[in-house]
Amino acid sequence: MQEKKSIHGSWASRWIFILAATGSAVGLGNIWKFPYITGENGGGAFVLVYLLCIALVGIPIMLAEVFIGRRARQSPYNALQELAEESGKSKNWGLIGLMGMLAGVMILSFYSVVAGWVLQYIVSTANGSLNDITSEQAGAVFSGLLADPSTLLMWHSIFMIMVVVVVIGGVNAGIERATRIMMPALFILLFVLFGYGMSTDGFEAGWDFMFDFDFSKLTWDSVLVAVGHSFFTLSLGMGTIMAYGSYMPKRASIGSTVLAIGFLDTLVALVAGLAIFPIIFSNGMDPAAGPGLMFVSLPVAFGQMAGGQFFGTLFFILIGVAAWTSAISLLEPTVAFLVERMGMKRSTASISIGIVVWAVGILCLGSFNFMSDVTIFGKNIFDTLDYATANIMLPLGGIFIALFAGWTVKQKIAADELNFKSESLFKLWLFVIKFIAPVAVAIVFVLNL
Ligand code: PHE
Repeated sequence: MQEKKSIHGSWASRWIFILAATGSAVGLGNIWKFPYITGENGGGAFVLVYLLCIALVGIPIMLAEVFIGRRARQSPYNALQELAEESGKSKNWGLIGLMGMLAGVMILSFYSVVAGWVLQYIVSTANGSLNDITSEQAGAVFSGLLADPSTLLMWHSIFMIMVVVVVIGGVNAGIERATRIMMPALFILLFVLFGYGMSTDGFEAGWDFMFDFDFSKLTWDSVLVAVGHSFFTLSLGMGTIMAYGSYMPKRASIGSTVLAIGFLDTLVALVAGLAIFPIIFSNGMDPAAGPGLMFVSLPVAFGQMAGGQFFGTLFFILIGVAAWTSAISLLEPTVAFLVERMGMKRSTASISIGIVVWAVGILCLGSFNFMSDVTIFGKNIFDTLDYATANIMLPLGGIFIALFAGWTVKQKIAADELNFKSESLFKLWLFVIKFIAPVAVAIVFVLNL
């Protein structure tokens, strides 16, 4: 039988797939969101729950997404339909892909706004206006930015253009080239910042905050945030990894590849936390400061550091790059779908979705200024989109993907694709994906109601 290929292209090697999927996984979720939700949810115990979710729920579901995508070589909606048919089940399973596309558009709308903040901080750091800044001043600079819709709109628009341009370039020319250069640089700089964190007198306090497990600080809401974030940070539950999996070379082993991606993503989050919290504690700042945490802490640190203007600029550039590679992956499943289903040109599809996201993004950036009084269940639009996607849609998508992979897809197909070295490893995966992952996530849902 001739090997099936995706019409969108395929990664040159397994290594490129790891880079691209890691580029998707590692983003604002790791460097911006993880530290601030850890701060808001009390530290250590939250981190432990998050790590458990990655291992018990995230990795098994990522295995499922990759094999489903690679087997069908199509965008998530079509892939789910095709595998359901191949297993003699209802094509309605494709609907999970539809919810995923919606989640992707919703996430990208606020993601692009935050990426816009990063772009502004590249400029502010580079031109020296943040040099020797105090923590109060840093707080004021950040609030000032949020209060200024036209600046926010400018950066949000620039970022969306950057994303759309790469997605138009397609799998090989666009996504692959961007990732190859940018990912390694990010790792190096993160370790430089980590080194700085180690040299401050807040390092011990930062370390204890992240790794001292005080379960009295943990609520069910925190557990849901941890569950949701494990999906968000690994780009799961909405079809991104499935879409990227559909471009994966046939011979590459899925198991070791997925482990590598999960490991790298977790490493970046932990190192980012260990870089940021020491800065927070050595400057007497509040770890529970919320979404501004990274934007008020890092400028203070770079302001004090030798060569801080240079390293600070570089660091914000790399965060911008990490956000960029993730944003690209948020758009890709929907673009692939429109190309396959509607016969659209890649460029038309990318630009159309880009415009929708851009428009919703304006509502998100307005949440901090001209639309701050518009709330849904007490949350502004920005927070609503964040909460609804990360804490509801992605985990729900994850439950369904687990059920699909464990119960609907013929076991032989799963076993063939995953091709684990040992039979018992496959059995273990099957058990987790059938019972542990869906039940655990469902329980957390119910307890939150
Ligand atoms: N994983 C990305 C991050 O941590 C965000 C993302 C979510 C990307 C879902 C794609 C799909 O920043």
